[in-house]
This record gives sequence, C-alpha cells and structure tokens, in this order.
Amino acid sequence: MKKLVTILAASAMLVSLAGCAGGLDASADGPKDPGDIVVGFAQVGAESGWRTANTKDIQDSFKEAGIELKFSDAQQKQENQIKAIRSYITQGVDVIAFSPVVETGWDAVLQEAKDADIPVVLTDRAVDSKDDSLYVSFLGSDFILEGEKAGEWLVEEYKDQTEPVKIIQLEGTTGAAPAIDRAEGFANVIAADPKFEVVASQTGDFTRAGGKQVTEALLKSNPDVDVIYSHNDDMGLGAIEAIEAAGLKPGKDIKIITVDAVKDGMQALADGKINFIVECSPLLGKQLIEIVEKVVAGEEVEKRIVADETTFTQEQAIEALPDRKY
Ligand code: AHR
Repeated sequence: MKKLVTILAASAMLVSLAGCAGGLDASADGPKDPGDIVVGFAQVGAESGWRTANTKDIQDSFKEAGIELKFSDAQQKQENQIKAIRSYITQGVDVIAFSPVVETGWDAVLQEAKDADIPVVLTDRAVDSKDDSLYVSFLGSDFILEGEKAGEWLVEEYKDQTEPVKIIQLEGTTGAAPAIDRAEGFANVIAADPKFEVVASQTGDFTRAGGKQVTEALLKSNPDVDVIYSHNDDMGLGAIEAIEAAGLKPGKDIKIITVDAVKDGMQALADGKINFIVECSPLLGKQLIEIVEKVVAGEEVEKRIVADETTFTQEQAIEALPDRKY
C-alpha cells in the first residue's frame, strides 16, 4: 500500500512539472518578444503624397521596433484588400492592421479574422459597421473636424462679402471615410450662410491626375468659380495645373483650400498658389506599434485614438517648411 502511495505521488509531481514546463514557454503564455510578433498590413495604395509618407512611416517604425511586417498595396481596390486580409488570416499573423479603401463591405472578412482570433486595428480610415467588436481599435484623424476647419477658414475669409461665393469641391475616393467626412464637415459649417454655394462636386480619387482632369472639365462649365475645396493636397496640386493652363492665377483668381499638408502642398501654400491647408498627419507608425504590443500582451487598448493636428496659412507654411518631414 505504502509503495502504491509513493508511485501515485511521484506521478502527480511529474504531471505538475509538465504543466510548469508549458507555463514557462513564452510563446504559449508569457509576453512575446517584439521579434516574435508578426503583423499583416493591408495598405490602400500609393495614390497620394500623404499615402507614400504613411507607408514609409509605418515600414520604418516596424523596422525600428524589430517587429515583422507583412505589407500589401491594394492599388485602391477593395477586393485586393480583402484578399490580403484573408491571406494574413491563413498565415496566422498576430495582428492585422489596415486602412480601408472604402467604408462599407468589411463585415464578412472582419468576422473571419475574429473567428480566427486575430485582432484587427483600423489605421487612418474607419469602416461603417454596426458591430464594433470586429476591430479592437481605430487610430486616425477626425475627418469631419478637418472639413469643419476648412469651412471655418472660408467663412472668415469671406466674412465681409455679400455676393455669392461659388465653390467647386474635389472629392476623395467615392465611399472612402475621408471623402464622406470632409464633405460633411465642410457642408455643416458653410450651411450657416446661404451665400456659399457648392456649384459642382466630383471625385478626383485623391490623385493629382484626377484633380487636374476634374478641374479642367469643371472650369469649363463654371468659369466664374471663386474657390476650390479639395479633399487632399494632391488633387489641389492637379487643380493648380488646370487653373494655370486656363490662363488663371491659382490662389488669386481662384482660392484653394486643401487637406493633408505634405511638402508639395506646403510649398504651393508658401508660393501663394494654395490659400489654406488643414493638416492630416500620416505619421501613425509609432502609435500603431504601441497598440500592437498592447494587444499582443493581452492589454486593453483605446477603441478610438485621434491624431493631434493643426492648420496652415501661408506664413505658417513658410515657417514650417524647412523642418517638414514629409
Ligand atoms: O485617408 C487619408 C487620405 O487618403 C489623405 O488625405 C489622402 O491624401 C489619402 O489618399
């Protein structure tokens, strides 16, 4: 009997040691080293100077943090982003981050990520979904606020004018959060005074070529336009080319407001060809890494993280340009 008790006690100890060995395995239970973390990032594309700066910042930040980054460029196509996300799920990455090209149509693929226990971080742009459990955090700008800031500048600029102010709006990619929200914020503010009239509004897909093409066409049907409100710098820079080709002076004959504040936009503002820029920061890499590390460690993360941003007049652009990183 005594012998049997000794054998049972020894076996129990072995079982408990085996359990301990499992517990000491960092990859199973303990915190992961940055070098063991793998993140899949599905980028929108390379449509603008902002996007190029955003991609570089994300890639540089992950390199510096020593975290493996799997990166894909969707060339502005939702189906490409969905494919990339599915491939990250199959590869079993630790976290998926992406900047949705449009707001809707994500629920199915995000549910697949959730079912596979892979947390998703929305970076830069939001999704329009009723189920906010499909992502752990949304890091990016307040695009409605950006549109409001553009509208507020306009209201102030024309405060002494009673004549109508005719506006062309160059929209970003149709269905994208920044296009929807920047239009909404701007409309909210200018609605206070009926003299402001958006005479035409069309998408230039956030590209310089798109902005140029749309402006060329719209100037023909609206030769007496006063202002162009462009949802990003690149389309505004395209509009400058179209205005100059039409023999007019951008910034004087037609005032231009843009969003982003990338170097080329800031240079045009300093040169007096753009009149006002609302900043949208592409430098999201470091904050994304903080979120990834917390999520992988099982810590709570904030559901919404908003970037701190400013606005620029010509004088402020001249001052800021020498130190502008992007
Ligand atoms: O989502 C951010 C927007 O996308 C930037 O304002 C624009 O330049 C980019 O393409």
